Amino acid sequence: MKKLTIALLSLTVAASMQAQNLPVYLDESKPIEQRINDALGRMTLDEKIAVIHAQSKFSSPGVKRLGFPDLWTDDGPHGVRPDVLWDEWEQAGQTNDSCVAFPALTCLAATWNPDLACLYGKSLGEEALYRNKSVMLGPGVNIYRTPLGGRNFEYMGEDPLLASRMVVPYVQGLQSMGVAACVKHYALNNDEEYRHQVNVIISDRALHEIYLPAFKAAVQEGGAWAIMGAYNLYKDQHNCHNDIMLNKILKQDWGFDGVVISDWGGCHDTDEAIKNGLDLEFGSWTDGLTMGKTNAYDLYYLADAYKKAIREGRYTTKELDDKVRRVLRLFYRTTMKKDKPFGFLCSESHYDAALKIAQEGIVLLKNDKVKRSKSDKEAVAILPIDPSKTQRILVVGENAIKMMTVGGGSSSLKVQKEILPLDGIRARFSGAQVDYVRGYVGDTIQSYNGVTVGRSLYETRSQAELTAEAVEKAREADIVIFVGGLNKSNYQDCEGHDRKTYDLPYAQNEVIEALLKVNPRLVYVNISGNGAVLPWIAKVPAVVQAWFIGSEAGEAIASVLAGDVNPSGKLPFTWYATLDQCGAHALNTYPGTWRKDHKIIDEEYKEGLFVGYRWTDRLKKQKPLFPFGHGLSYTTFKIGKATSDKTSMTADDKITFTIPVTNTGSLAGAETVQLYIHDKKSSVERPYKELKAFRKVFLQPGETQEISLTIDKTALSFYDDTKSEWTAEPGDFEALIGNSAHNLVSSCSFTLR
Ligand code: BGC
Repeated sequence: MKKLTIALLSLTVAASMQAQNLPVYLDESKPIEQRINDALGRMTLDEKIAVIHAQSKFSSPGVKRLGFPDLWTDDGPHGVRPDVLWDEWEQAGQTNDSCVAFPALTCLAATWNPDLACLYGKSLGEEALYRNKSVMLGPGVNIYRTPLGGRNFEYMGEDPLLASRMVVPYVQGLQSMGVAACVKHYALNNDEEYRHQVNVIISDRALHEIYLPAFKAAVQEGGAWAIMGAYNLYKDQHNCHNDIMLNKILKQDWGFDGVVISDWGGCHDTDEAIKNGLDLEFGSWTDGLTMGKTNAYDLYYLADAYKKAIREGRYTTKELDDKVRRVLRLFYRTTMKKDKPFGFLCSESHYDAALKIAQEGIVLLKNDKVKRSKSDKEAVAILPIDPSKTQRILVVGENAIKMMTVGGGSSSLKVQKEILPLDGIRARFSGAQVDYVRGYVGDTIQSYNGVTVGRSLYETRSQAELTAEAVEKAREADIVIFVGGLNKSNYQDCEGHDRKTYDLPYAQNEVIEALLKVNPRLVYVNISGNGAVLPWIAKVPAVVQAWFIGSEAGEAIASVLAGDVNPSGKLPFTWYATLDQCGAHALNTYPGTWRKDHKIIDEEYKEGLFVGYRWTDRLKKQKPLFPFGHGLSYTTFKIGKATSDKTSMTADDKITFTIPVTNTGSLAGAETVQLYIHDKKSSVERPYKELKAFRKVFLQPGETQEISLTIDKTALSFYDDTKSEWTAEPGDFEALIGNSAHNLVSSCSFTLR
């Protein structure tokens, strides 16, 4: 015992002696802010300048002399991008950088399940750790403003509350691994066309009520350690060095203590970068996809030009020290964090997470009853497809055989595995004859960003031949599964450009119409991150929205089609029947108006707050094709009468609504109860209703659960632009409860005193 005590004592003494010898910045027992100050005091001007700009496409230097490692960032939101060469976009050609592709963030948002967002972030963080990446460039939370938006698939839909509730656990899950989230693209980067030149003109209310909440939640609730400035301009200043966006809103009002990273090539001016809140410059001389100057890191706006300005006395080190402090804070949170978990790559648990998120995010948009054959008396829902009763399945469509993890811009991945829809369907329906025909030719690209797709999409036959082949085969089939939609090639769901039209591309509509003539038992599986015009919708009995869902795509789709998984996804955006149902287009605000010198294009968000369902709620006669929050199940649910714990509340109070939800069908499933607030009378114009709470509930057949949704005055508030603050006006409100923005089945009135 005595020996043990002596041994322990000497260990403690040794440890404390060691601590005494350690410089403060390395002493783990000291508070981080003290360590930052100590490190800062030791750094030379050159070292300070070095840590605030990149040294390669995806890394910035640490402080070699003091032992701070280099900082490695990587895209992106959906998986860890393969390594590129030091200063090129070309692949480094490594063989150890394949990853698991998780579903794109529209799919994550469609799960309406914050627990899955946490699992997503954590799993991605583990992959990043294994690959030695300390900053993941994502998640993206730009609001879905127009269905033409090329990067909508990377974001979390049209609603600020949904995006906020999903981004917070994603950031927390990721950062629990000691990997920083870099939430992007802050802000108002809602379309891709002319993204470096768009100057967004927007009311303060729309900015604060629609476009900023998810960023604010990521910062204040999620504790995001980094944020990426957007390419576009706001009030004539690029967002990577925008005084209002960065200094005022992000840092001053929200108290952000992390690092503002420029989007790749988004920094344009040394003075603005110094003064207006940029901390870490990346990707200059490139727009993120193409190349300008090479190895020009000393020419970065925050490199030699900044050093010169300090040396000449035009700036003190005040701004520089603030930037360096933030970067050091990021180091301590990531590269310098000792007790980080171990990462792992391509593990079973990551595939399981990707599959689960995909399965919960797939949305069953339509599922009509049809007769299986002419002799059948009763019509039944066409989905799920019973494998034991189906002999001949015809799969049509390029998207059934196209890798969707490759392409689309910076979120493109090199996957260890991607199960294609056709392969998933073949595996699940192994007892049936599953035929495949191409149907149409879309994008035959064989490689993207150095990653080669596994399967050749080369095709020489004419469209007439392809259609004829599909029609012939469809005559014989018990069921036709058309896997189409968009893909990630240019001018589709792809970074850098928006879609040119809201229509489905290629000959898809023509082929579907031809197929329907010979076989009306057609299931349309749409792969995309956006809606589209579906002109044949009345004739097609089932539509499944299957997103870009990554490594497990085929398995997830097949499991939903076969009914192994009961679909429970809900649309995170309004699926307009036509483009003019969208406010931005109805008011002809997109893509904007070029100024005389053709350098800047002004895009005025004239629809203001009225984005998505907030706009379609105002349309008298027209209805969207599928409303926000819509998604069917193979079972049925009853949302009962909602009650509240009070009918009157004060601004300091909370109010709780209780809603019974019953699974009235014969299969286990999940329903998402959505609570919207309607302000009965307001001194300012407000949307008819706004989503303020939701809960996904899993129920066995016959089971009822009472769920509670609690809100406080923030759910009743609007942004008062005359005072620049949020206000909840006393008066009467109504909570509208249902399972989509257009299916509200219960309501509760209450008063704010
Ligand atoms: C994109 C960012 C991305 C960066 C690095 C840019 O073009 O806008 O989202 O993180 O490139 O690849």
